[in-house]
Amino acid sequence: MNKFAIILAAGKGSRMKSKLDHISKVSYEIFDIPLVKHVLLSLKPLDVSKIVTIVGFGGETTKGIVQDESEVVWQLEQKGTGHAVMQTAPVLEGEKGATIVLCGDTPLLTTRTLQGLFETHFNNKNQLTVLGAKVENSNGYGRLVINSDGALEKIVEQKDASESELKIDIVNTGVYVFDNELLYKYLKEITPNNKAGEYYLTDLIEIFKNNGHKVATSLMYGDEEMLGINDRRQLALASKLMRTRINDSLMLSGVTIEDPDTTYISPYVHIEPDTIIKPNTHILGNTNIGACNIIGPNSYIKNSTIGNNNTIDNSHIVDCEVENDNKIGPFARLRGHAVVRNASKIGNFVELKNVDFKDGAKCAHLSYLGDAEIGEKTNIGCGTIIANYDGYKKHHSVIGKEVFIGSGSTIISPVKIGSSSFVAAGSTINESIEDNDLAIARERQVTKKGYAKVIKNKILNK
Ligand code: UD1
Ligand code: CA
Repeated sequence: MNKFAIILAAGKGSRMKSKLDHISKVSYEIFDIPLVKHVLLSLKPLDVSKIVTIVGFGGETTKGIVQDESEVVWQLEQKGTGHAVMQTAPVLEGEKGATIVLCGDTPLLTTRTLQGLFETHFNNKNQLTVLGAKVENSNGYGRLVINSDGALEKIVEQKDASESELKIDIVNTGVYVFDNELLYKYLKEITPNNKAGEYYLTDLIEIFKNNGHKVATSLMYGDEEMLGINDRRQLALASKLMRTRINDSLMLSGVTIEDPDTTYISPYVHIEPDTIIKPNTHILGNTNIGACNIIGPNSYIKNSTIGNNNTIDNSHIVDCEVENDNKIGPFARLRGHAVVRNASKIGNFVELKNVDFKDGAKCAHLSYLGDAEIGEKTNIGCGTIIANYDGYKKHHSVIGKEVFIGSGSTIISPVKIGSSSFVAAGSTINESIEDNDLAIARERQVTKKGYAKVIKNKILNK
């Protein structure tokens, strides 16, 4: 059976209180991932053949986020959830299959829940399946009116509910699976005859029932997964709930997290057992981390691959690869596709950009290495700078293996420094040197015997 998905994301989100009118509510981020992207990522494993996102307020921003993974339709005026879904008719009307409808501001919905809803729908041969939730506080939600046979009668919005309906503690999560052909057939029958004057998607429950179609509820307990983000407190709450969910699952799988309250690991990060994460560490993006590493405290790693047995202390690593048995930090910065191979050391205040730093190489302090290859077991002295930029273009240098670069050297790219060569401290190298050579490129020292006293007397006019 074909599966389709519709994501409602046209609403304004006025409770975010933003002054920026190009920002849509669903573009607010948790773990650097926009809310609507979280929803898309949860849908991804379900093998849905078409996804349509309805955009409106701040729609260009939303479109930019979703357009690679979803078709986009516009709802220029927000006249309700039913009206929103009507806008998708040009894309989905007439398709045979089942369509899940969900909101772009519910980042905590899991693939498992969505998968379960589809399964209930198919297994029971339903024409409409509503995901309901039994909650402690039903305020703000549509209530599921269930009759004495346990069958769903209708959904009543809070605004339109009677005293007794307001007391119902089973609510509409806003997620449904519809028979696709029937969805578009009956959308046309919705009218805005309610307190809000909107086209309610939820009116379809009664319409389906009145036409003899099978409507059922799939129930979950608690409201964590369905949490919709309306204001910035809920944004922080969702972030915290997601963080707890991820950290708990990592800890149960064998990763030590010393302080889960200050550890931010995004949902698409993979970490092998026996790695230890120290406090105040962020691990984001598509990052893969192997086993037996010690990471943190205060480290930030994004879109990177880390092997096994590394120590990464107080460091910042983005778009890089660190293989095995390396010591990095404290206070190192790796960026721009730097690769640190094995058993190397990158010390304090060292920045690596687009460098291939080979096995056993060392750079222990205060250096900038950009656009270069650093050979095996080469030692880069304190305060070395690879000057890779001439103001117009970046240039690349190659430093061979077992080279000694003396402290305070500047290497002006492009040059090639042969293996087992030696660059004297304080040199400025702008010509290549061959294997086993010594290069000294600095002013010769002049020592004037006893002259310090002469200078002192001169200064003090003695
Ligand atoms: C809706 C449901 C309610 C449910 C709740 C769950 C209806 C009538 N009510 O209420 O039963 O308990 O969700 O959170 O559906 N949107 C559009 N275009 C519009 C209106 C809304 O795209 O014209 C989008 C919003 O951006 C949002 C979603 O639809 O993502 C839900 O809209 P919202 O106004 O928040 O509906 P609720 O009143 O919360
Ligand atoms: Ca809402």
